[in-house]
Parts: sequence; C-alpha cells; structure tokens
Amino acid sequence: MNRRYRKTIIAGNWKMNKTATETRQFAEELKTMLPKTKWCDVVVCVPSVNISAAVKAFKDMRVAIGAENVYYEKSGAFTGEVSADMLKDLGVKYVIVGHSERRQYFGETDSIVNKKVLAVLEAGMSPIICVGESLEQRETGVTTEWIALQVKSALAGVPAEKMRKCVIAYEPIWAIGTGRTATAEQAAEVCSSIRATIRSLYGARVARSVTIQYGGSMKPDNAAELLAQGDVDGGLIGGAALKPDQFVAIINAANQE
Ligand code: PGA
Repeated sequence: MNRRYRKTIIAGNWKMNKTATETRQFAEELKTMLPKTKWCDVVVCVPSVNISAAVKAFKDMRVAIGAENVYYEKSGAFTGEVSADMLKDLGVKYVIVGHSERRQYFGETDSIVNKKVLAVLEAGMSPIICVGESLEQRETGVTTEWIALQVKSALAGVPAEKMRKCVIAYEPIWAIGTGRTATAEQAAEVCSSIRATIRSLYGARVARSVTIQYGGSMKPDNAAELLAQGDVDGGLIGGAALKPDQFVAIINAANQE
C-alpha cells in the first residue's frame, strides 16, 4: 500500500452467490462489525439482480456497490445483457471487468474486455480490470510479458485523465478459489510490473496514482503480508468476502494508518 499516492481498496467479489434476502442479512451483520474505514475504501460487488437490494442495504455504511460484469453496447437488441448506464443509474460505482472466470467460461477476449472498460469509464464508473496468468504460463516464465499484454489491451484508447478511475486487479488464475495464494513476493513482483507497464504508457505520475489490487485466496491470515507490499494497494476477494467476519478481518488489515 502507498496511501500518499493512491487509494487502498478492499473489494468483495461475490460471484454467483447470495440472494437479495441474503444480501440484506449480510449487510445487517456487517454493520455490527465494520470499523470506521479511514484508511481504505470498501466495495462489495454483487450479482446484477441484487444491486438494488445492496445499494439500499449498505447505504448507511461507507461501502460502495460494484457490479461483476457489464455489456459494452449502450442499448439495443442484446437480450439478457445489462448496460453501463443501467448500472450507473442504480448507484453502482465499480464494475469488475475481465475476471478470469468470464474469460474462461464466457469467452471474453482482450478486445471485449477493452470495450467494457471504455463503456464503464464513459458512464462515469470505475472498472476493476482483472489480469492474471495460468499456472502453465507461470511455469514457462512468461508471466510478466503476458500480464503486460493484458494490461495494454485492456487500456487501449483510455486517456490519461481517466486512468485515475481505473483499478487493476492482479489475479493469478492458479490462486483463485484454490486456497493457494501467491506469495507476497510473487504478488509484489507482478503488481510492480503492472505499474511499470502503466508508467510506460502514461508516465510516472499517472502510474503512481493507480490502485493495483491482488486477488486469489486472500484471507484474514495472509492479507496483512500481501498488503504490506508497496505496490499491492488492496484486494479483490472472493470466498472470504462471503463471510462478514472474514471480510472485516481483511478490511482491518488494510485499514491501518
Ligand atoms: P478467491 O476469488 O478469493 O475466492 O480466490 C478471488 C476472485 O476470483 O476475485
């Protein structure tokens, strides 16, 4: 973390979990435990059908609501899809874009990810852009190049003044939902290589203002060490964000002066 230059953001990614009723229950429980979050921002990304319930349930807490996906067209004949303007109108502040599950199961390419990033920014929200390598890529030693390519593709056409709104989440695919976490060293190395890529595209000032999260089995017992790395500015948390006590423990690790 480096709060002099950028925000620390702890974001939950609920994936396809919890009904609207369970969303309200989670918020009630969280309310009793959430500390004053002076040193970090808290986001909860929920399934799109639960966004309205979440906006209402979390409204008295300093918790921003995020979406997990978006479609890049403004409107029209795209049955089943949800536009950035629709999300924005409900009170959404962040949208996860290019999560590896979307890339893997729903065929999202770098070019689709890029269009979604542009649509989210155009609507005035912040994209949380996910990048990450497979185990095979890590083992063959192409992680840095691969991530740089994903970052560059996702940011194509994004002007420097909008970079402050972008969040990048480094999520090694082999660490997602597996209980296997990247070491703090591995996370730090890739997060700083992401910042170097942003620096090469936009210069040092912009690069140091961008929040870069780590995601992949972040938990109460490893959060502090991961967050102690200078270039790791928060977390994107799946499993542990479904339980209020675990989520709060991670928030506490980030909410240090
Ligand atoms: P995990 O998921 O914390 O359950 O590994 C992280 C993510 O997919 O964003």
